Amino acid sequence: MEKRYVFGDVMIGKEELKKRVRELGAEISKDYKGESILAICVLKGAVIFMSDLIRELNIETKIDFMAVSSYGASTKSTGVVRILKDLDSNIEGENVIIVEDIIDSGLTLKYLKEYLMARNPKSLKICTLLDKPERRVAEVNADYIGFSIENKFIVGYGLDFDQLYRNLPYISYLEEE
Ligand code: IMP
Ligand code: MG
Repeated sequence: MEKRYVFGDVMIGKEELKKRVRELGAEISKDYKGESILAICVLKGAVIFMSDLIRELNIETKIDFMAVSSYGASTKSTGVVRILKDLDSNIEGENVIIVEDIIDSGLTLKYLKEYLMARNPKSLKICTLLDKPERRVAEVNADYIGFSIENKFIVGYGLDFDQLYRNLPYISYLEEE
């Protein structure tokens, strides 16, 4: 039988998101003071987080986008990473920050990190809005983490279930009915 899902409560509200994103922006600006960065948004989930985050940076910032395969209609990762859209820019010699929505198994980021490292950036760091450490399979950690959360299926603020709910201005989760 097909699984059905219902919405949980608001997990992280609008104001809390705003405050934390501002803090992350300040931290990154401090760490890269006097330098420039290239922020890489991992589409589509990180698009809301990235657009809020870069407006909190007071350092020289360029942006680019990548798209990789994700879950589809299932809530489990297949572990298969496919590049659907590659970068437009050359990252050699750049301070790259990968901006992700969530680290779950870590398989996507582990792959992306190795893929980008091969192009000789000056430095490479990871900034994720959410982290589900319990679910980690691949050995990969973020340098900047918005919120470390328990193992729930998250929607909102860019994160989807079957492409829906990305537009919610807060973070919620789905539960099996
Ligand atoms: P990974 O398991 O760390 O490789 O996660 C891959 C991608 O799956 C993430 O970048 C998200 O786009 C998506 N994902 C993982 N967990 C969730 C979730 O709880 N809600 C929505 N998308 C998720
Ligand atoms: Mg993602």
